[in-house]
Amino acid sequence: HGETFSLANGVAIPCLGFGTWQMKEGPETVAAIQKALELGYRHIDTAAYYQNERSVGQAVRASGLPREAVFVTSKVWNTDRGYESTLRAFDRTMEKLGLDYLDLYLIHWPAAANRFDNWEDINGQTWRAMTELYQQGRVRAIGVSNFLPHHLEPLLKTEVAPMVNQVECNPGCQQKQTLAYCRDHGILVEAWSPLGSGRVLENATLQALGKQYGKSAAQICLRWCLEQGVLPLPKSVTPQRIQENTAIFDFALTPEDMARIAALPPFGGSGHDPDQIAF
Ligand code: A2P
Repeated sequence: HGETFSLANGVAIPCLGFGTWQMKEGPETVAAIQKALELGYRHIDTAAYYQNERSVGQAVRASGLPREAVFVTSKVWNTDRGYESTLRAFDRTMEKLGLDYLDLYLIHWPAAANRFDNWEDINGQTWRAMTELYQQGRVRAIGVSNFLPHHLEPLLKTEVAPMVNQVECNPGCQQKQTLAYCRDHGILVEAWSPLGSGRVLENATLQALGKQYGKSAAQICLRWCLEQGVLPLPKSVTPQRIQENTAIFDFALTPEDMARIAALPPFGGSGHDPDQIAF
């Protein structure tokens, strides 16, 4: 499954990424990431907040793959927002990863518009640091996470526009407005919790579609992302599931079945509202 999407600056990004949220630093995480790399994943998504960057770096280095064969993403945490502190956070991330460049660096959450009077200024300062890291070649692409259209808008007027927006996205939490906005502005959307952290998999429509295609409900969720040009980042520590989540390139959902999913009412979302997150 060597397919890639293309970012606005021409950088190729593997269409399926391995999510590592809730995987703590340690041998189990190193083993899961090594398994993923063995099974063909070439894209690992981490964050300073996940506290597993050392394990990610260790697994990538131990894989024997050339550095340029693996796409590695990390994120700057909320308490490190701002120009100087973002630059320092980036150095800590790189020290932990033990890599000499990063493929993609994201702002983990916007400063919430309902919590910070100066949210736009805070995001702008953080973005200035991201832009500088990009221009210095220390990271191949830059973007944001959990940004709604009004958070994105000011950044689109700067020198380098965000290339990626990583948001919660699955059939129960479809993010139609954010997806449309990103599509119109050449921003690739990545899906965190593409399986609703497991919460959406019992849905009757997804189960029925799974039977129809000879796939699992999880594979239907991941394919649903791909059909919309969204890059899914499923997380698993279970080798059989890590593998199952890669078998999504040998079928396609019909427009009728995409419409069936589009018509589902919201369910199983995390409830995180980027305009209300107080930290
Ligand atoms: P585990 O890590 O124990 O295998 P998301 O990526 O939406 O956050 O979902 C991750 C959750 O879904 C984890 O609890 C993971 O469990 C579980 N999971 C991952 N892949 C599958 C799958 N193919 N089928 C069922 N559950 C899965």
